[in-house]
Amino acid sequence: MGLEDDGRGPRSRGPVQAARLRSGDRRLPPAGGIAMSAREPSRLAIREMAAGELVLVQTIHASAFGRDEEARLPHAIVSAGHDVISVVATDGDYFVAHALFTALEGADRALALGPVAVVPDRQGEGIGVRLVRFGLDLARERGWRSVFVLGDPGFYGRLGFRANLARGAVVPWAGPNFQALELVPGALAGWSGVLVYPDAFGAGDDEDDD
Ligand SMILES: CC(C)(COP(=O)(O)OP(=O)(O)OC[C@H]1O[C@@H](n2cnc3c(N)ncnc32)[C@H](O)[C@@H]1OP(=O)(O)O)[C@@H](O)C(=O)NCCC(=O)NCCS
Repeated sequence: MGLEDDGRGPRSRGPVQAARLRSGDRRLPPAGGIAMSAREPSRLAIREMAAGELVLVQTIHASAFGRDEEARLPHAIVSAGHDVISVVATDGDYFVAHALFTALEGADRALALGPVAVVPDRQGEGIGVRLVRFGLDLARERGWRSVFVLGDPGFYGRLGFRANLARGAVVPWAGPNFQALELVPGALAGWSGVLVYPDAFGAGDDEDDD
């Protein structure tokens, strides 16, 4: 895919994050396909996740959320064969953020966003916003029409998500934190219906609260 964002992050990579992801690396099988060529420190790149990088993505979510629920989701969804857009931010040899968009049933060309995570010592640098924007651009380019998310409006609101756009959706987690964004203007106008999430999202509990 032609889209790539390789602007520089505003801060250099911190030693805590480096140690955390190195520790994750040691758990990788040697032929995990995640070896990256050396790059200059602090060179942030945003791109689609490559095959074989799921295990590193899991490490990002485990460190950001501090629990396993979100960390397990990407592997469960990808291995179940769902249509996804999976994007990562890297800084040199290090993976610093991941966001997953998964196809939903019930609305025309709709995606669920989540989980989204930035490793703890790189949060607040603007990486999360850049990563999600990159994924949204990719989704629009590929003909997706809307994106739903359950999460903090303080973060997702600045990306254009609005709770009122999601009001027509029948989901177990309806409420002010359930928001939607139209990739195509008017895509959700007048729409209402049941949105069907992949089983891995655990309909009926709050496991995708991101
Ligand atoms: C939430 C998360 C993905 C945001 O990524 P990030 O790179 O830290 O966010 P950014 O630096 O791009 O933040 C952009 C803005 O959103 C704000 N913001 C970040 N996380 C927020 C949150 N959970 N609630 C409200 N606002 C938030 C930031 O303060 C920043 O505001 P500012 O520009 O006015 O300073 C990241 O903090 C994270 O991984 N958190 C732990 C996992 C998690 O909770 N994921 C789900 C998010 S609902």
